[in-house]
Amino acid sequence: MDRIRIRGGAPLTGSIPISGAKNAALPLMIASLLTDETLELGNVPRLADISSLLRIMSNFGVDHMIAGRRPGESTQTGQTIRLTAKSVIDTCAPYELVSTMRASFWVIAPLLARFGHAKVSMPGGCAIGTRPVDLLIMALAKLGAAIEIDSGYVVATAPKGLRGAEIDFPKVTVGGTHVALMAATLAQGTTVIRNAAREPEVVDLAECLVKMGAKIQGAGTSEIVVEGVARLGGASHDVLPDRIETGTYAMAVAMTGGDIILENTRPELLQFALDVLGQAGAEVTPYVGGIRVRRNGNGIQPVDVTTDPFPGFPTDLQAQFMALMTRASGTSRIRETIFENRFMHVQELARLGARIRLDGDSAYVEGVPTLKGAPVMATDLRASVSLVIGGLAAEGETTINRVYHLDRGFEALESKLARCGADIERLRG
Ligand code: EPZ
Repeated sequence: MDRIRIRGGAPLTGSIPISGAKNAALPLMIASLLTDETLELGNVPRLADISSLLRIMSNFGVDHMIAGRRPGESTQTGQTIRLTAKSVIDTCAPYELVSTMRASFWVIAPLLARFGHAKVSMPGGCAIGTRPVDLLIMALAKLGAAIEIDSGYVVATAPKGLRGAEIDFPKVTVGGTHVALMAATLAQGTTVIRNAAREPEVVDLAECLVKMGAKIQGAGTSEIVVEGVARLGGASHDVLPDRIETGTYAMAVAMTGGDIILENTRPELLQFALDVLGQAGAEVTPYVGGIRVRRNGNGIQPVDVTTDPFPGFPTDLQAQFMALMTRASGTSRIRETIFENRFMHVQELARLGARIRLDGDSAYVEGVPTLKGAPVMATDLRASVSLVIGGLAAEGETTINRVYHLDRGFEALESKLARCGADIERLRG
């Protein structure tokens, strides 16, 4: 298994191109199942999760073509993928495939909406919590699907098609909103989705669906109205910038000091987190086509944060922010309200010398003057990258094991950091 070795202490200076968002690319790829025409997606990141989903889609009979690299493009430029779900030969997603990536469960919505039936394995738990799919199933049932749970599979049928309905989510769910949105596009009549997730990835999906011919209003607010149409067609769409990758590198430079331009991204995708970084002592300013983040001289101030659905502080940046707070001049409280078990990075950060006390949904982080490099290991991709941030500031050498977690969600991580002066390399193993 590959490892990453970091020799800490170097400030980050230069520029980092931000990739397309994994968490937008996945539902966009799944949306191609809604039509027999071709969906062309640009700015798709080169990530293990994207390859896994392509394998799942191929299993249904979806053709895909990945456009070759054009002159001037590097591996740090997103790829263009064309997906054509013309002859779908199977509407079953087996356990072996769904268990590798939770988001693949979302295929249930377009398969059911277009073909009237779908059989998809329950995704099961994962390292960050139990993560049930009850609300996704509730949304499909509201739209008129008959649902059965059979030997670990969700079997959904709607032989006469789905019909519009009112869907009130008792809690904000990104996956639930994606599923309701995709299914409602082909339902007969009007669907109102209340307490919808407002994440930028939901807006990106809605924009692409509209290009495909869907009638959607209100995406980005907590009430989305969908007028069902009889069929959707092909479209061409670029995946929006990855706000979590943006925030991760912003936190890395806040940690190491230095001055970097994050290219091809937008501050409004993560304004809350950028404001928090400002309070912690980083200078964050909009820059042509991106964001400039600097921290020179002054130390890191402690800031309390609570994770929340968008536009609040994202749970997917919680581990990275905790890494930053380990060097603050005081104690901060970090509260996790989205997932019950998303503190797996705490004991690994402690191996670098961090002082963190857990109490229920909160971590109390007492800043220390220095971290010291150590071998560490992580259990999910955001936790792994928090260890990279810790390692970049730690004295001496940090080795991060189980790099496959990073490969699921961060495109060209080592080369993006190395070009800004980090001493980081991948050890093949
Ligand atoms: C998406 O997961 C993201 N994944 C996650 O990113 C992200 O952490 C999460 O949204 C929250 O922002 C993708 O977009 C592929 P939810 P999702 O449904 O949709 C509970 C990463 O690191 N819930 O918004 O699965 C659930 O347990 C990943 O890139 C139910 O109770 O998250 C959680 O507490 C990790 N029943 C809360 O809702 C349900 O049926 C929010 O989960 C569904 C969810």
